[in-house]
Amino acid sequence: MQSLTSLHSFGLSCTAQAFIRMNQPTDLHSSLNLKSSAFYILGEGSNTVFLEDYQGTVIRPAFMGVDLKHTDTHYLLKVGAGENWHQLVLWCMQNQIYGLENLALIPGSVGAAPIQNIGAYGVEIEQFIHQVDFYDLNKQCHKSLRRQSCEFAYRDSVFKNDLADKVVITSVTFAIPKIWQAVEHYGELRELSEPSAMDIFNKVIEVRQSKLPDPKKIGNAGSFFKNPIISLEQFHLLQKTWPSMPSYALDNIAKVKVPAAWLIDTLGFKGKKIGGIACHPNQPLVLTNDGSGTGEELLALARSIQSAVSKEFSIELENEVRLIGKNGPVVL
Ligand code: FAD
Ligand code: EPU
Repeated sequence: MQSLTSLHSFGLSCTAQAFIRMNQPTDLHSSLNLKSSAFYILGEGSNTVFLEDYQGTVIRPAFMGVDLKHTDTHYLLKVGAGENWHQLVLWCMQNQIYGLENLALIPGSVGAAPIQNIGAYGVEIEQFIHQVDFYDLNKQCHKSLRRQSCEFAYRDSVFKNDLADKVVITSVTFAIPKIWQAVEHYGELRELSEPSAMDIFNKVIEVRQSKLPDPKKIGNAGSFFKNPIISLEQFHLLQKTWPSMPSYALDNIAKVKVPAAWLIDTLGFKGKKIGGIACHPNQPLVLTNDGSGTGEELLALARSIQSAVSKEFSIELENEVRLIGKNGPVVL
């Protein structure tokens, strides 16, 4: 039996039958007999919530290493899945490799970054991904996918769909252009004038620290829901009742992204609690655990937000976090 409380940032009290840390991709061949038992691949647990005792084995890929190569135009960085994401961003900044600064301070491992195509402050990681290397658990062999085949979209990729729970990502190769271009159009970054990469890095850290609760202080998994994408038609209809509803235009499609935080805020959920689980008073898209919360309380609060948003706006919120029950994934 292994406690999972400190192995996921939401920090609910629960256990797994067993926990295996894999240090080398070759361990995947030798020690996995996964066909016969339930398993869950866990990075740093910042986008996973274990709702109750998990009746299976939790496997942590801890493959380390950073290998830097150059082409005329790009830095090619091959990074082990077990490396910490923010430490990689920091290492790049220290080595004058610029481009990842908008994604500073996102918790988690490098191996999980392609899974939901991590994004923040106007950048998504897909634009820097060259190749993802993984172990195919069904075919029991190592394979790779180039960026074009990863089916990246907002908080989405082939690894969350066709390949979900069928592969272990072993390393990710990033291609970072040698000629740097600032991305400074998102929110508070607009306050900066002709910023350097380091200015953006520092600003992103400052804004994130002021807005998002620190999982070391209070359990959370970042945004609990995705920002919904709706048709322009539906948006214009909603605007008649809610003229102040914000939206973000999307490239090349007649749809808009609506901030889920605004929907949840407008319905008065900020600060609402069920037991030890709360809707964060400053950032309502984040649900928190004061240490005493349970999986049932989390599901109850998340479902009440989801059904209120559906009733009022006819918008179906989807969870961004991965919810794991005793036998595996749980649908909200
Ligand atoms: P885990 O929670 O361990 O796993 C996430 C998923 O990836 C699971 O499905 C798991 O099975 C799978 N997985 C993990 N490693 C592997 C592997 N090697 N091979 C195969 N599958 C694997 N996300 C953003 O995109 N933008 C943000 O701005 C952001 N801010 C956050 C702020 C806070 C305070 C928190 C707590 C989270 C935030 N997140 C954000 C979510 C989270 O940081 C990312 O999703 C991150 O990539 C998760 O990494 P992890 O290693 O903790 O993943
Ligand atoms: N808003 C409110 N009330 C609030 C807070 C926000 O109405 O109390 C509205 C405002 O209109 C604001 C908008 O929500 O402009 C967006 O807020 P913010 O810029 O904080 O971003 P977000 O939509 O809440 C998304 C990502 C974050 C990412 C930030 C910055 C998703 C699901 N979340 O949050 O990612 O860090 O943008 O780019 O896309 C995560 O995935 O875990 C995560 C934290």
